[in-house]
Amino acid sequence: MQIISQSSEWASVPLLPHQHRGFVPTMGALHEGHLALIRKAQAQNDQVVCSIYVNPAQFNNPEDLARYPRVLAQDLERLAEFPNLLVFTPRDEEMYPAPPRLRFDFGKLEQVMEGQYRPGHFNGVALVVAKLFHLVQPHRAYFGRKDLQQTLIVKQLIDDLSFPIELVVCPTIREADGLALSSRNRRLSLAQRQQAVLIPQTLFEVRRRIRAGGYPLPDLYQFVEEQFAQSALRLEYFQIVHRQTLEPVAHLEAPAALALCVAAYAGEIRLIDNVVLTLQKEL
Ligand code: PAF
Repeated sequence: MQIISQSSEWASVPLLPHQHRGFVPTMGALHEGHLALIRKAQAQNDQVVCSIYVNPAQFNNPEDLARYPRVLAQDLERLAEFPNLLVFTPRDEEMYPAPPRLRFDFGKLEQVMEGQYRPGHFNGVALVVAKLFHLVQPHRAYFGRKDLQQTLIVKQLIDDLSFPIELVVCPTIREADGLALSSRNRRLSLAQRQQAVLIPQTLFEVRRRIRAGGYPLPDLYQFVEEQFAQSALRLEYFQIVHRQTLEPVAHLEAPAALALCVAAYAGEIRLIDNVVLTLQKEL
């Protein structure tokens, strides 16, 4: 494992002309989901870079930024299983030598769900991802589907700025009881951890009902609201959307590629999750 903490060091990292570099951007507090991205990247590339950087520009809530887990020593221990990995740990002064003025506009994509409840979040994500892409110059970039909206924003960024990068979206990794892995899970108390399982359970049940057919959309929304109302979790949003555009689904009609998306609070801790499903026309 080689640690690179200054951008200027990239100039001395060799990559032969026919070789490929894979990139896994993270904010640290690494879990099995990140490790799965790195494994996939290592299987598909000659060289893999994992960045660890808590990006202040994507936090609309300063308390959330202050509380975000920072455990670099532990992260580096976890990464020791990847002997050839390059770990990029830039500092704020280098990433943001001056307050950034650039603003992105992702249109409808950033006005719904996470964009609606975390104003400025995707501008900050796009900014740091673009900076990291410029510095690391990967051929492929790996993101988890748990952050579905982020993957669509990054795809738009890659297309609009003509980055010669293939976006690889990998499945969400879950605990045995279904809870999606997230760096924020480590902040959950034992009781909150137990309550949080309602999130995947509800998503799986709604997906089952949609697949079974016969449940009108309003009933599905009402079911979700009732589930959360009876729990200690606070539902921020639940949406049944088209997977590519994130536009709310008006009718459950095949063919359609859908996503069921949730954000909910366990105490102060905000968790998001989604499941995807495809409705196919019967032949
Ligand atoms: O998904 C994350 O961890 C972050 O949003 C990312 C992509 C590393 C940008 O800071």
